[in-house]
Amino acid sequence: MNNQKGFNSIWTDNLARHKHPNRNALIDHLRTIHQEHAGFTEVCASSCRDRVGRNSYEWLAEVVPVNEVSNVLDLACGSGPLLKILFDRNKNLNLKGVDMSPEELALAKIRLKNSGTSLIETNAQNLKVINDNSIDIVLCHWALTLMDPIDPVLNEVKRVLTHKGQFAAIVDGPMNIAPGYKKVHDLIYSYVQEEIPSYGEIDLGDPRIRRSESLSILVHKIFPGANVTIETNVVSIEGPVTQIAEIAAGFFYATFVLKPEKRKLMITSLSKLLTVSKQSNHIKRLGRFSMPISRLLVVPNIK
Ligand SMILES: C[S@@+](CC[C@H](N)C(=O)[O-])C[C@H]1O[C@@H](n2cnc3c(N)ncnc32)[C@H](O)[C@@H]1O
Repeated sequence: MNNQKGFNSIWTDNLARHKHPNRNALIDHLRTIHQEHAGFTEVCASSCRDRVGRNSYEWLAEVVPVNEVSNVLDLACGSGPLLKILFDRNKNLNLKGVDMSPEELALAKIRLKNSGTSLIETNAQNLKVINDNSIDIVLCHWALTLMDPIDPVLNEVKRVLTHKGQFAAIVDGPMNIAPGYKKVHDLIYSYVQEEIPSYGEIDLGDPRIRRSESLSILVHKIFPGANVTIETNVVSIEGPVTQIAEIAAGFFYATFVLKPEKRKLMITSLSKLLTVSKQSNHIKRLGRFSMPISRLLVVPNIK
């Protein structure tokens, strides 16, 4: 529920009691957030760009060859921005998107009208609606980090992929590669921890996805013999500082638990942190937010 107290759910109640929430609590928490804020991820992700001008959807889409006919699955496709980029690049792709949020899928349906994309409501842990060995490329943009248990998800990805099939995902990058990112993260979490002290110590999803070393070990375990690479990148956005602070804060699931008054205070502190030019008129002040991202690529080793 989102009210004057800020958002709460069984997941946040568990955290408040220093209890590790179970998978149903996680699903319920994420579903409710996406029901109330469908499309929020793309607000930040589509406007943050790397040094050559690509956003993280475009960077991930590069894994898909432009001139081939292939079957592509977007796992946890949300409101469909990645599928739209893929469709605009190559109208011959057979595109599928799955997500557990009906509200996100409703937005994707509007965006992908007349594209022939098949959109399916299901959990990533159970892709039984998709045949074995039927997908050439599975993509996942900013969602693997939220999934727990993660092993069944990766096993399902492996099952639906053809024997030459590839899997690629955008996940959190190492905090230290993006200037100022750790300070932004720590500031937001300090406000959230005033509400729920263990938020951060316990977070959404399986923590192994958030670090390259543990992610690589996990992926090698599910895809033995595959070639696994994890590349890093930094995407940034610049503009009027209050707007940049809102966009940056809106990307963190943790901020949904803040009460409106506390959120306001957090945005003021974040605006100060993100300011890059000291104009006397605060409305004209320029802000910059940079975010570290990693692109995981799993290519089977075919002899
Ligand atoms: C951060 S959003 C990313 C959405 C989209 N990929 C994008 O980047 O714009 C995470 C998405 O993952 C979905 N999701 C999270 N856990 C899931 C699960 N276990 N199965 C299916 N969808 C899931 C949510 O419903 C949400 O749409």
